Amino acid sequence: MSKPEAVAGLPSNLSDNEHFQQVVDRVVSRRGFLKGSLSLSAAAFLAGPLAACGSGDSDDDDAQQGPRIGFKAVAASTADTVVVPEGYNYQVLAPWGSALFVDSPAWRPDGSNTAAEQARQVGDNHDGMHFFPIDGHSSSEGLLVVNHEYTNLEYLYGAEYMSPWTVEKANKALAAHGVSVLHIVRNAAGKWEVKLDSPYNRRITGTTPMTLSGPVAGSERVKTSADPSGMTVLGTLNNCAHGVTPWGTYLTCEENFNGYFGTTSTDEAALTPALRRYGFSKDGFGYRWHEVIDRFDYAKEPNEGNRFGWVVEIDPFDPASTPVKHTALGRFKHENAACVIASDGRLVVYMGDDERFEYIYKYVSDGVFDPAKGKANAALLSRGKLYVARFEAGGKTGDMMGSGQWLLLDKSNPLLANDADLPTQADVLTYARIAADKVGATKMDRPEWIAVHPQTGEVYCCLTNNSRRTEAQIDEANPRAANDYGQIIRWRESGSAAGSSFDWDLFVLAGNPVAFPDRKDLRSGSSNINADNTFNSPDGLAFDDDGRLWIQTDGNSSNAGKYLGQGNNQMLCANPVSGEIRRFAVGPKGCEVTGLTFTPDRRTLFINIQHPGESSLDPAEVALNPLSVSSWPDAAGGRPRSATVVITRADGGVIGA
Ligand code: FEO
Ligand code: CA
Ligand code: CA
Repeated sequence: MSKPEAVAGLPSNLSDNEHFQQVVDRVVSRRGFLKGSLSLSAAAFLAGPLAACGSGDSDDDDAQQGPRIGFKAVAASTADTVVVPEGYNYQVLAPWGSALFVDSPAWRPDGSNTAAEQARQVGDNHDGMHFFPIDGHSSSEGLLVVNHEYTNLEYLYGAEYMSPWTVEKANKALAAHGVSVLHIVRNAAGKWEVKLDSPYNRRITGTTPMTLSGPVAGSERVKTSADPSGMTVLGTLNNCAHGVTPWGTYLTCEENFNGYFGTTSTDEAALTPALRRYGFSKDGFGYRWHEVIDRFDYAKEPNEGNRFGWVVEIDPFDPASTPVKHTALGRFKHENAACVIASDGRLVVYMGDDERFEYIYKYVSDGVFDPAKGKANAALLSRGKLYVARFEAGGKTGDMMGSGQWLLLDKSNPLLANDADLPTQADVLTYARIAADKVGATKMDRPEWIAVHPQTGEVYCCLTNNSRRTEAQIDEANPRAANDYGQIIRWRESGSAAGSSFDWDLFVLAGNPVAFPDRKDLRSGSSNINADNTFNSPDGLAFDDDGRLWIQTDGNSSNAGKYLGQGNNQMLCANPVSGEIRRFAVGPKGCEVTGLTFTPDRRTLFINIQHPGESSLDPAEVALNPLSVSSWPDAAGGRPRSATVVITRADGGVIGA
């Protein structure tokens, strides 16, 4: 990894904690930031096919005060259960291995389901998801599209774990990845269930054929022995978070794809600088697919890894459709893809690259969105410009706010025009990280989900943590060394979402005033963090239509030391105007809380509990005793399973209000 770029105007007084705390206090209480001029772009988006989601309750008073948060906060929890506020209920839906077809084989709790059986069952490690109403506005029937980010091998395989190692086991893991499309209905008793006989139900896995689109499609970078045309890829992997297009399709984002590749070769030169820049290594993350499937051995198929790390479009309403990997949006470890329509009609997609010291990107289409064209608007994802963010300190140093620039990642940028490492635009997009290094983008503390405020168009991004940032590497947007807790940054575009510059500040600096009660210590967090809402590692992020900001965490759940009092991973609700943050829910042991989507009436909230029972124990030991950490959601004591959780209010009211 190359040396982080210096940021112009880096303040020399960042170690002055007292000054910093005063500054952050002012930052998070600064209401003027919200009164932007971007309502036109947001309104344009809301006027599209997704406008079904109610009108919100904003009035002049709300605009001043922000949205009402009406539930009673829940306490931190270390219990192996889901905690929701008083007056709220939940049910578990579609856990890993459950049925989504009439002929889906039963899930067997001993790990003995075959690869073929897994391919007919709900996948593992539920992450980003979206509820698509069947008729555009129904709040009792729709398609729930769910990402399956990865799989916990200690729970996937059972007691024998990975010995002996077989291609059947690799294929089972591939079948546990991808996406599920689930036709769900609310029954007469008010419970949600999967409609097993629906033609919409679909499993997309690590082997489903998909097409490449955009400048990289058909290029030298993506040709393989199995696909000399460079046009057809088998599978999508590490489907982290997601996006929804204004024309009603689903975007699934490929994150840590590098970990599925490895090599049995002893030729060290096979690990090229480009592979290293994306984190490839001889053993990957220990999946061992490369030992039994040639395309995952980068010495045998050096371009196969270039066919992952993209944003993939799926039409959930056409089960026969071929998913499309849109290369114009760049290749990196994609978190989510937040879509808005700029005031001039162009499509804008915000995207984070979740790794320490990686970047925030923005894609702007060449063409404009035309509601009359329906799904043909997908062409907007094939032709456009990719930018990467530089966060500058701005005029006043040390105040944790500033301005920024969107830097063009295109051969027309003089900084890239004659670059021999990236001779074509296909290279610039395939190696977007390398291009971003060369134009001087700002290295962030692991960009996770990005969310756009539905009224103001302001953009918020979780920077989850970065334990490796040193004092010499801090800048105003990433202001702490050894950042265990993370922060949420926000920016307001200049003029239009498609603009080339912006103003930014920090909405919250997460921290722990239980472990660090001295509020002058940056580890205690900004002034909107207290002992009752302390959390670490913000990850999932989305607004509801009233402008409540929902925050989900994927961090350290030890509840000890630096994390004392924070409990299991959790979900919080924030008022972006006042800065108030209130804990809404807590997950079971060892999980992360992720994925959030509402029915159009916002009386049903779907979230995902991912990898309950994940621990630092030896996976082989856990495989022998799979209940050693968690048995959620099975009260009878089954092995832990990722699942969707459906949250409603006993009084049928709007969630959060
Ligand atoms: Fe898949 Fe960055 O979380
Ligand atoms: Ca995430
Ligand atoms: Ca995660």
